[in-house]
Amino acid sequence: MKSVIKAACGQFQPVFGETTFNLSTVERMVRAADADLIVFPELCTSGYELRDRDEMQANAISVAGREIERLKLLASDTDTHIVLGFPEVDNGRLYNSSALIEPNGNVTRYHKLHLFDREKNIFDPGDTIPPVVETEVGRIGLMICFDWIFPEVARIMALNGVQIICHPSNLVLSYCQRAMFARSVENGVFTMTCNRIGSEARTDRTLTFTGGSQILSNRGEMLAQATPDSEEVITAEIEPKLADNKMITALNDRLGDRRVEFYRIITD
Ligand code: ACM
Repeated sequence: MKSVIKAACGQFQPVFGETTFNLSTVERMVRAADADLIVFPELCTSGYELRDRDEMQANAISVAGREIERLKLLASDTDTHIVLGFPEVDNGRLYNSSALIEPNGNVTRYHKLHLFDREKNIFDPGDTIPPVVETEVGRIGLMICFDWIFPEVARIMALNGVQIICHPSNLVLSYCQRAMFARSVENGVFTMTCNRIGSEARTDRTLTFTGGSQILSNRGEMLAQATPDSEEVITAEIEPKLADNKMITALNDRLGDRRVEFYRIITD
């Protein structure tokens, strides 16, 4: 296991409906980054504003399909751990998914738990807890975009030992990036939010995505940040095991000091 890794976010504007072209952008950025771990945006193979479930189905990827096979070859060829978001068809269900693809061929999926706005008309909600995966570059967790507003998602991963939360996003609200500071410091973990750029006007509204992809340390320091509107790869060197230290002062332990007996209303 590496003690210091090169982490990257590949911020770009997917071309709606052009899966093969978008995967070529992913490939170009993976090769340019030369990183140990790279995160790409939510739904980055398809574009965001799917009009209905039929359109979603037409753009969906199956994890057993050739697109993920291509990414497995890319991960192995470049020795890079790749995280990206895509629309997924799985057993007749349609998910807003992300996957961690490891150089050894392992693929771990996550189905977005908290669907945002009209996504509720298109996707089936996720049905499993966010995964934490032991890898050669640290313990990696997966969440997707709007999951950020539910602190329980990051906290569950922290309780399961996550060191780096990978957060593919298509953010349209202006304050998410700032909110991720809280997810990092309250859990003492690295967070990598990879947002897309550009606009889409595919329905009766225009959506403008806020870019500003960022890599935050386990203490909430901004290690790298992209602009709001340009395609770019940002990188930072990180030491994942720093996230195992949950102490804030010698007497304050982020996880150990929780008073769970007073929190029951959260889950009951
Ligand atoms: C979002 O969850 N795509 C805002």
